[in-house]
Amino acid sequence: MQSYQRVVDLRESLAPTRASGKRIAFVPTMGNLHEGHMQLIRLAHQHADVVVASIFVNPLQFGLNEDWEMYPRMLASDTTQLMQEKCDYLFCPTEQEIYPNGMETQTKVIVPTMTDILCGASRPGHFTGVTTIVAKLFNMVLPHVAILGIKDYQQLTVIRRMVEDLCFPIDIVAAPTARAPDGLALSSRNAYLNKTEREQSTALHKTLLWVQCQLKDGRRDYVQLETQGQQKLLDAGMRPDYLSVRQAQTLELATAADTEIVVLAAVYLGRTRLIDNLTIQLNHMV
Ligand code: PAF
Repeated sequence: MQSYQRVVDLRESLAPTRASGKRIAFVPTMGNLHEGHMQLIRLAHQHADVVVASIFVNPLQFGLNEDWEMYPRMLASDTTQLMQEKCDYLFCPTEQEIYPNGMETQTKVIVPTMTDILCGASRPGHFTGVTTIVAKLFNMVLPHVAILGIKDYQQLTVIRRMVEDLCFPIDIVAAPTARAPDGLALSSRNAYLNKTEREQSTALHKTLLWVQCQLKDGRRDYVQLETQGQQKLLDAGMRPDYLSVRQAQTLELATAADTEIVVLAAVYLGRTRLIDNLTIQLNHMV
């Protein structure tokens, strides 16, 4: 695996691949890699000839009281894992490389409206940080396809919208959520959970499965369903930020006429914020 910190070197190294007509897949990450990321790399191999991963803990997408400083930096073990999955290139730029003019005056990419709801409501500015870094990384790597996890469903939706609105010639491939055997969605932030919190955390996926089941059984009283779901999360010792039944493409509140549904939830467990979601295809006739 070839590893680069500077855009100019990465581009120079990728140029012959691009010129020969080979497809380049890109997996953007913030490092502290786990099995979920490895599944993204494996999926990337299925969609391209060459796979590029990036590791950059992007300060622009963290709020003032969030975990940017304590976010684990594990470059050595990340590199080993990427090499095991035969990732071809690792781009791990410095903050100076990404924000040479500083973050204050950085040109930003804003996807309006859908970034103000759900996670965006409790993490103001987060999605602008995400779209800005992803747009920059897309322009640096110039991939044909990018692989993003469904676990970050709102992020995936926002990035799809940015790609469409700004005409990036990049296919976005959504990768299924990787889960622990007890259902917890794999996330770098799971490492923050203590033993008790880790046990409690399974209630998040279980509650989403319960909501999914209720919807499949024909319930369309979404507001009441959300309240009941939030109560289940509270009973399990979590502080729900939201649990919401939404239209899967737009993230607007779901109506009884919608068939493509996503149920999204975010909870605080101690100091850790966890998110998860499930998509549901509903039959009109129920
Ligand atoms: O999902 C992530 O790890 C990050 O938000 C991303 C897409 C790498 C942008 O920093």
